[in-house]
Order: sequence, then C-alpha cells, then structure tokens
Amino acid sequence: MRIPIIAGNWKMHKTVRESVDLVREMRRGLNDIQGVEKVVVPPFVALASVAGLLGPTSIRLGAQNMHWEEQGAYTGEISPLMLQGLCEYVIIGHSERRTYFDETNESVNRKVHAAFGHGLSPIMCVGENLQQNEAGETEAFVSQQIREGLAGVTAERVSQMVIAYEPIWAIGTGRAATGALANRIIGLIVRGTIAELHNETTAQAVRVQYGGSVKPDNIAEFMSQPDIDGALVGGASLRAADFVEITRRAAELKGTVA
Ligand code: PGA
Repeated sequence: MRIPIIAGNWKMHKTVRESVDLVREMRRGLNDIQGVEKVVVPPFVALASVAGLLGPTSIRLGAQNMHWEEQGAYTGEISPLMLQGLCEYVIIGHSERRTYFDETNESVNRKVHAAFGHGLSPIMCVGENLQQNEAGETEAFVSQQIREGLAGVTAERVSQMVIAYEPIWAIGTGRAATGALANRIIGLIVRGTIAELHNETTAQAVRVQYGGSVKPDNIAEFMSQPDIDGALVGGASLRAADFVEITRRAAELKGTVA
C-alpha cells in the first residue's frame, strides 16, 4: 500500500522569519490530517528554525536541493552531511534546477545516490517542456530521465523513493495537466520504465506525485487517479489555508490508515 505524500516546495520564497510564521499558521491544520504524509520544503536557511517548530508534529521536512559530495571546495553548496538529521526528504532535479542551473540526469543520479547514502529520501523530479510535449517526445524524454536518474539505484531503494512527474509547461502557469494525462505518463512511463529497469513489484511500490499548478480545486482530479500518490505543490504551498486544504482533500480521497 502506497501512503500518499503531499509536499510543499517553497522555492526561493520566504525569509527565515516569514518561514516560521507560515509554518506556525499551517502547523495545527496539517498536523490534524491523517493518512497522508505531509512535507514542507522551505529554503535552506530556514530549515533549522522550521525543524524546531515541527518537532512534536507529524509534519516532515525536506530540502530543495543538495550537492552529492560530503564536503569540499564547492562555494555556496549544501552537502548531504549537512542535511542528514536535519530533514528527511530532499528534492532532486527539479526542472528549475535543470533549466537555470544546468543540472543533468547524471548530476541528478549522483545526488540520488548521495541522498540514499545519507539516509535522506529523494524526491526526484522529471517532466517534459512544452516544445517536447508538442513534438510528441514526452514519453521518450521522461523515460530517459528515469533511466539515467536511477542508474545503479537498487530496486529496494527505488521502491522507497518518491518521484514527481512535473510537466514544465504546467509549473507556475496555472495551466495544470489533466488528471488522465498525468496518470497516463505516470503509469505508462514512470512506472513502466521502472518495471523494465527492475520489476513490476518495484514499479508498484514507488510513490509518484504529480506537480504543476496544483490547487485546492484541482487536487481531487489528480488524487482520484490510480497511479498518482500525491502532489508536489509550489505556489499554493505558500498560502497556509490552500496547502492545508489541498492536503485535507488528498487525505479524504486517498488517505491510508498507517
Ligand atoms: P507550482 O509549482 O505548483 O507553482 O506550479 C510546482 C513545482 O514546481 O513543484
């Protein structure tokens, strides 16, 4: 049984003080929701403060990125050692990292290995851009992202991780994919490729989120799809009421009793 997971990726928003305020605002509402995993992903500098506020709750914490090396002369980077013990999840290969900071499937793969090596659960992002989508290249492109991103990752580890399918044309545009379309890519391509790489059991065990303009009024469309286990939420996760409402609706539709 796959426990649904709703994660809020705050991106480069919120100062430390604003992060603390936002978590205080959503903490009780989120904590009361059961049957789904709830994850907030603030900027690095706010992780420690937010961790302090989440301590006694059922809300988990994630980071937005990390380097694969434990330490070294990499000015401005954050290592898995620094995140170990501070948070549980780490987003890897978000399309904005790939587009603006030149991340490749190879660097994503190194980071996935590093995350597992340090007890962090990766949320690996994949997804095609508009041009690829219109050219009918979605399937091949996403399948390659999965293959290269997961190269050398054991079936056991794959089954424990989270993958987010986020069509780039749907991110921050207000133009979400349809539930049926996202479910098709997730079932056929994300799980299908993992079944080819490993086996059907692994493909059915991995949790796969949809991401891209998820809001309270469209979350049901995604959660009601058989292959979609949750959402990676950007813009709407910056508003406490919206994020709590998205999580509440997801739990109503698909919440599992742990
Ligand atoms: P969005 O972002 O919800 O603002 O579209 C999603 C994401 O990039 O994870």
